[in-house]
Amino acid sequence: MGALKVAVLISGRGSNLQALIDAFGPQVADSPVQIVLVLSNRPAAQGLERAAKAGLKTEIVDHKAFASREDFDVAMDREIRAAGAELVVLAGFMRLLSEGFVNAWRDRMINIHPALLPAFPGLDTHRRALDAGVKLHGCTVHFVRHETDTGPVIAQAAVPVLPGDDEAALAARVLWAEHRLYPLALRLIAEGKVRVEGERAIVDDGAAADAVLINPPLP
Ligand code: GAR
Repeated sequence: MGALKVAVLISGRGSNLQALIDAFGPQVADSPVQIVLVLSNRPAAQGLERAAKAGLKTEIVDHKAFASREDFDVAMDREIRAAGAELVVLAGFMRLLSEGFVNAWRDRMINIHPALLPAFPGLDTHRRALDAGVKLHGCTVHFVRHETDTGPVIAQAAVPVLPGDDEAALAARVLWAEHRLYPLALRLIAEGKVRVEGERAIVDDGAAADAVLINPPLP
C-alpha cells in the first residue's frame, strides 16, 4: 500500500504543519503519509516558509481575490485535486468552507480544534475554558462537517487547567498536545485504522483504559 497523499491547508503560523512535517516530511523514510501540497489562503502565512524549507510544494489561493466563498473553494479544490491529494488536513485554516466543498471531501477532510469538542466550538476556546472553570481542556481531531467544529471525533488529548493559568499558558499546554495528537490521528487514518459509521469515527487501537487524567490529582 502506498503512502496516503494529503494536502495541508493553513492560514498562519503553521506549528501543526511543522509537527506533520517532522512526522511525515520528505526526510522520513517509509512514511505512511505523503504531504503533496501545502496550501494557504494568506500569502504571508509563516507556515509557507516551513513548507518551502522542507521542500514541499506550496500554493497560495488568496480568498481576497475571489468574489464569493464558493469561487474561492472551487479554486482550492482544483489545486488539491491537481496535487493528487486523497485527504485534506486543516491545520489552523481559518476560513469557513462552503457546503459544496465540505460535501465533496466528506470523510476525507480532517481538522484539529483547540478544545475537547463538543465543548467550546468556535474561537477563543482557551479564554472560554478559563471562564467556565473547567479542570480539563484539550484538543480534538475530527472529520469535518458543514456546521463549524462538528463531525466524527477521531482522537482527543486532554490537559489539566492549572490554578495560575492565563490564556497564553493554557494555549501553550494545549498546543504541545496538538503537536502530538495530529500526527497520531493522521497515522491511524493512513494505516486504515479509522472508519466512519454515521456520525462516529471508529478507531481500531483507539482505547487505552489506563489513559485517565484526573485533575486535581488523586491524593
Ligand atoms: C491551532 O491551535 C489550531 O488548533 C487552531 O489554530 C491554531 C493554529 O496554529 N485551529 C482552530 O482554531 C480552527 N478552528 P498553527 O498555525 O501554529 O498550527
